[in-house]
Amino acid sequence: MNSIVIAPSILSLDYSNVSAQLEILKESKAEWLHFDVMDGHFVPNLTFGPDILRGFKKACPLFIDVHLMVEDPETYAPIFIKNGADLVTFHTEALNDDLTRIQKLLDEIHGLGAKGGIVVKPNTAIEPFESVLQSCDLVLIMSVEPGFGGQKFKADMLKKVEWLKEKREALSLSYRIEIDGGINQDTFRLALNAGCDTLVAGSYVFKNDIAKTIEGMLE
Ligand code: DX5
Ligand code: ZN
Repeated sequence: MNSIVIAPSILSLDYSNVSAQLEILKESKAEWLHFDVMDGHFVPNLTFGPDILRGFKKACPLFIDVHLMVEDPETYAPIFIKNGADLVTFHTEALNDDLTRIQKLLDEIHGLGAKGGIVVKPNTAIEPFESVLQSCDLVLIMSVEPGFGGQKFKADMLKKVEWLKEKREALSLSYRIEIDGGINQDTFRLALNAGCDTLVAGSYVFKNDIAKTIEGMLE
């Protein structure tokens, strides 16, 4: 795996033309697909269930990064793993930021053979989760309010990225640092400079030349 990974978010796929875009993604420099699961409760939008994930998994060999924006990740993480998720991230807020429940779910995800990590919304601090970092393969920082693509990047979220980078070094850990929301031709550099190594990009990738846009972020 490259040191920098681009994870195109299929939330912004053109659903009238899925196969052609998946073919382009397969040939592109993207190594992951970012799969946003929304339940209409945790966020005010609805997206994909496990059957859709199974279809993507069958059609596309990329590593599948499932971002659960659901009220009940303890129920849904195992279901999405059974249907093809390689990595599952869940929101700490959905578990009332309860460290015991967070640790238990990370352990369960690992027990099912997948990678796992936590996500925080813009208004949630990351420092309270220091004790579970050792069980995270990845930490996802939201740089927009979760729910919709095409929003403006919140640059102040990069402070969380810098903190995660410092802690990773101080604690000799190896989690990836992913950012999600508002990545474009300007903000991707800010994110990389702050210490992100995994960039989710939705509208920026799918509203432009898919392969060239992905490549541009890796130059
Ligand atoms: C938003 C989702 C994102 C979304 C990002 O809640 O988690 O993954 O697709 O879209 P852009 O890159 O357009 O901000
Ligand atoms: Zn996402």
